[in-house]
Amino acid sequence: MTESVLEAAPSAASAATKAFAKINLTLQVIGPRSDGYHEIRSFVAGVDLADEVYGTTNVAGTAEVCCDDPSLSGPGNLAHRAAVRLADFAGVSPSLRLQIRKRIPVGGGMGGGSSDGAAALRICRTLWGLDVSDGVLASVGAELGSDVPLFFHLPSAVVSGRGEIVESRRMCWTGWAVLVAAGSSVSTPEVYRTWRREECPEVGLDLEDRVANARSAAELMALSRNDLEPAVFRVSSETAGVFSELNRRGLGPIRVSGAGSVMYRLFDDIDEARAVAAIVRDWGMNIRTEVVAVPAGPAPVLCKERMNGDY
Ligand code: C5P
Repeated sequence: MTESVLEAAPSAASAATKAFAKINLTLQVIGPRSDGYHEIRSFVAGVDLADEVYGTTNVAGTAEVCCDDPSLSGPGNLAHRAAVRLADFAGVSPSLRLQIRKRIPVGGGMGGGSSDGAAALRICRTLWGLDVSDGVLASVGAELGSDVPLFFHLPSAVVSGRGEIVESRRMCWTGWAVLVAAGSSVSTPEVYRTWRREECPEVGLDLEDRVANARSAAELMALSRNDLEPAVFRVSSETAGVFSELNRRGLGPIRVSGAGSVMYRLFDDIDEARAVAAIVRDWGMNIRTEVVAVPAGPAPVLCKERMNGDY
């Protein structure tokens, strides 16, 4: 196995990319599975809010991951685990120094950790000169997190299974989203644990086609749904409070992304999006807002070639 993936591509001295975030335009929970996960279907779009991920090889031949949020540095980071897993798969040493500049809210349902993991795998492929496809990287990543494969299929995709089965799916619409991040991170396992089937509305079989063909933000918001939303509100009263307040002030419709806590509303017009974001910012509470382009991604891996004397 290992010889076929080694040295077929030139290795690089350093490599960098952007790790985009995602929002779930739809998220249907079909039901619990025997392996502890839930079967889902989701139409997902990348958004132009990204962590910056920069890697070089490491003389020590080991993996090191540093993040500007120190709580995310070290071997617990999914990017670290992904690099070690890929090195093991390819039969090389996990020679990597990775720096992550965090922009995506942590525990916000935007797939930030998984996107960093996917970015790390693409960076390692470049640094180590491995001849492996995106499909192989995605399946290495899927062992570490259900959302990792999705980030090899941006700008938009339909995911199924526990989230790891991904099919790229173009959308007709392009526009803007206001993201509202209301403080604390929400635990995905806890949200899934408190999910209730009776809270999920019926859905037409053509939902994903309708999302793919929608032409306006209003049409998309009307189609959007998230079966995890009631569970997110049970787990995070803070998210529930901000969601109600946004609706009470006529700033809806609002949708929660994934297992929360970030909420979004789509707009056709950037000025309208900025105006709504400014109103929310003016509340003066601990709420972060961003206006981002949708859909977005993927970002190329930019690299500096290895020079004589580099290792
Ligand atoms: O795959 P990931 O590590 O992101 O999943 C974290 C946890 O979230 C799982 O251990 C499981 O409890 C829950 N989960 C689930 N169904 C999914 C995805 C995640 O129940 N489709």
